[in-house]
Amino acid sequence: MVSVNRAVEPSIVFVRACGQYLWDADGNRYIDYHAAFSPHLLGHNDPCVNEAVRRTLESGASLYGSGTTELEGRLAEMICEHIPFVDSVQFLNTGSEATSQAIRLARAVTGRDHIIVIQGGYNGWHDDVACNLMTPLERLGPRVSPGEYPFVPISAGIPEERRKLVHVVNFNDLASVDYVCEKYPIAALITEPVLQNVGVIRPQAGYLEGLRELADKHGFVLILDEVKTGFRNGVGGYATAAGVRPDIAVYGKAIANGYPIAALGGRRELMDYFVHPDPERRVLLAGTYNAHPVPVAAAIATIERLTADGGAVYRRLEALSEQFESGLREALEEFGLRAAVARQASAFCVYFMDHEPVDWHDLAGHHDYALDEELRRELIQAGIYWFPVATKQISISAAHTAGDLAETLAAFRTCLERCLEKRRAEPLPEKAP
Ligand SMILES: Cc1ncc(COP(=O)(O)O)c(C=O)c1O
Repeated sequence: MVSVNRAVEPSIVFVRACGQYLWDADGNRYIDYHAAFSPHLLGHNDPCVNEAVRRTLESGASLYGSGTTELEGRLAEMICEHIPFVDSVQFLNTGSEATSQAIRLARAVTGRDHIIVIQGGYNGWHDDVACNLMTPLERLGPRVSPGEYPFVPISAGIPEERRKLVHVVNFNDLASVDYVCEKYPIAALITEPVLQNVGVIRPQAGYLEGLRELADKHGFVLILDEVKTGFRNGVGGYATAAGVRPDIAVYGKAIANGYPIAALGGRRELMDYFVHPDPERRVLLAGTYNAHPVPVAAAIATIERLTADGGAVYRRLEALSEQFESGLREALEEFGLRAAVARQASAFCVYFMDHEPVDWHDLAGHHDYALDEELRRELIQAGIYWFPVATKQISISAAHTAGDLAETLAAFRTCLERCLEKRRAEPLPEKAP
């Protein structure tokens, strides 16, 4: 049985991974750009991270379920040191737990129930946010601004009453946030700073700052979901690099290079609600496995690797990513295709449309989904693992080499040529998201 978002075609049984490579049960090797939905920033089975895990297991450390631990404290200090708006931090196991807690915290602090989410954003699988990811445009209607879109669940079982509390607006659309805030008492707006579950859609100049201003104007809690952008964009995450101060931010994925841990941190006045002296106002944060020593040790080792030698890992990643970006652009130009390469740090997406999308309507209305999916299928056959769902993020790790990228770019040209030949022979069917 596979988790549903992993049930893709081709269905491959992977048995082993090392650095930038994956091997399947038939012994085929792939250069991996999926990185298990992006945590493996250092590559799979990074020796330093695994060594820290091994040492922790051998040290006699265990899950105590009582009080706090020295390791947990050390990790919290490291995070607070690198992220200026994080005064304190709590650990959970997954990004979904962290976003769920962040929203509950915002509701407790503001005494309001409504929230704003972003069309095309993904913040986990719980009831408040399991909606409006790759929504067919027929379900949304044309772009409206200012205005809001219907709640379109990505799961059955979300109670009707719950849906009424969630308001959906497009990314890069401040007017709609203002509009919704005038109509409903909004507790929080949650957004990825860069939409990285529909490729890489970047905030326009002033957008995140505008959200900060609207949060101050309307009194809602600004939650930045850095589960994908955090640590991949630098140890401070995207917000720190962009100079934006959310009230709360959540982290996961690359924080521990593939081990299961998430963090929720932010302004002290808000975080203190988790330990509020008044039980009526205290926000419950529980979880048997929170701050398990294995993922905590993995996170410490990951951050040590990321900060060593003045951030040498990031410099290497940036150099590789620049090289890959220009290689992709050159290849696409050779084919004379209308295409855009969107990149944020070591996260990429190739869009088959003539510009980088600014929001979901733009992407869904212009991207050539059929070509994207066909190309991914061809690449996988050629040993290059781009997740076989159109627009899914391509991630470079510090384990990739210039040689891997050259091999990938050569395969990219061959596979694209093959797709275009097939299309000339037999047009690909129209395929909407
Ligand atoms: C931006 C973002 N937020 C939250 C989540 C949920 O994290 P998890 O899968 O660890 O629950 C994801 C997962 O892909 C994500 O990409």
